[in-house]
Amino acid sequence: MKIDLNGNFSLIKENYLFSEVAKKVKAFSAENPSVKVIRMGIGDVTLPLSPVVVSALKKASEEMGVKDTFRGYPPEYGYDFLREAVRARYAERGVALSVDEIFVSDGAKSDLGNIVDIFGSTDALIPDPVYPVYLDSNILHGSRVSFVNGTKENGFLPTPDGVAKKPYVIYICSPNNPTGAVYDKDGLKRWVSFALDTGSLIIFDSAYEAFIYGDEPHSIFEIEGAEDCAIEICSLSKTAGFTGTRCGWTIIKEGLSSCGVNLAKLWKRRQATKFNGVSYPVQRAAEAALSEEGMRACRKNIGYYLNNAKTIAALLEKKGIFFTGGVSSPYIWLECPRKMGSWEFFDYLLKNANVVGTPGEGFGEMGKGYFRLTAFSSEEDTVEAVARLDKLL
Ligand code: MLT
Repeated sequence: MKIDLNGNFSLIKENYLFSEVAKKVKAFSAENPSVKVIRMGIGDVTLPLSPVVVSALKKASEEMGVKDTFRGYPPEYGYDFLREAVRARYAERGVALSVDEIFVSDGAKSDLGNIVDIFGSTDALIPDPVYPVYLDSNILHGSRVSFVNGTKENGFLPTPDGVAKKPYVIYICSPNNPTGAVYDKDGLKRWVSFALDTGSLIIFDSAYEAFIYGDEPHSIFEIEGAEDCAIEICSLSKTAGFTGTRCGWTIIKEGLSSCGVNLAKLWKRRQATKFNGVSYPVQRAAEAALSEEGMRACRKNIGYYLNNAKTIAALLEKKGIFFTGGVSSPYIWLECPRKMGSWEFFDYLLKNANVVGTPGEGFGEMGKGYFRLTAFSSEEDTVEAVARLDKLL
């Protein structure tokens, strides 16, 4: 063939971080088939869907098998029943949205990766360390990328201090993946005011908002002025155990525009061309997850994961190992002991404790020497992993 392929693929890592981790674990398990490996790497939930969600899924699937209630293509931006359920959830936090500002998706990852389609050549400003999808999608798009560093000193919550004043597409994830650090209202206000001053846009990833335990904002739209400078992307993956069911949403306020062009209009156009929506049963399941009964079940499951996080945190405290997260987040971000490198520590844990985590440097340069553990395992596995780590560290 003589077609020109997207050369930007050569600029990103050959394997996606979690594929790389899975490959190494598979190889280890093949060599050590009798060893019980405890997986605290990828942030995948282990508790099942709640009964109210399952019954909505079943009922909607039954409807799909009956001529009178069968449905074909879903509406381009989501069924109104789900958009209304999302609207109501934001209203509880004092965030007023219209259903037309809510775009249903098959999860935050797709929208975070796809949103670059509506941007031109403005630089991206990306925290380091952070969820790798922001960087990869911007590199593939051909964008120039600048970084703001998360460090031990700033508690892995970078600020706009010292950032050159020009327009950027700024990515913020709070509670943060991978560090579990959470911006308070003042921290987010600083970013919103930087964005308004410089004509920047914030892409706010709120996938972990349901884990917030204190009074930190769950949505960027809790900050005054954000409606003029932000898009929010959220998901039910971690909130309601939808990692395998797939449903989320993006919020673009009707008035959001850049140089006279309306952003929602571009996103609608992009979605209409490239996306055919989320299946009816899944949207009914999402609606059920957002109901009062559904949210009660979500809170119970999140409490279970946060309890696992506490168990891990207690060990690190006992060992005097520096860490962030684990309070309003399912992630615990720790400094590798004895100055080990992230991948070195990964291999060390896998071999000696048969525990899988995620090497910090997979989330960026600033993650070198750090490591992420998730609290999404079962309680039994978390307790066992902590006992193994207690012996080893
Ligand atoms: C993670 O482990 O960082 C997440 O599960 C990845 C994702 O949400 O796509």
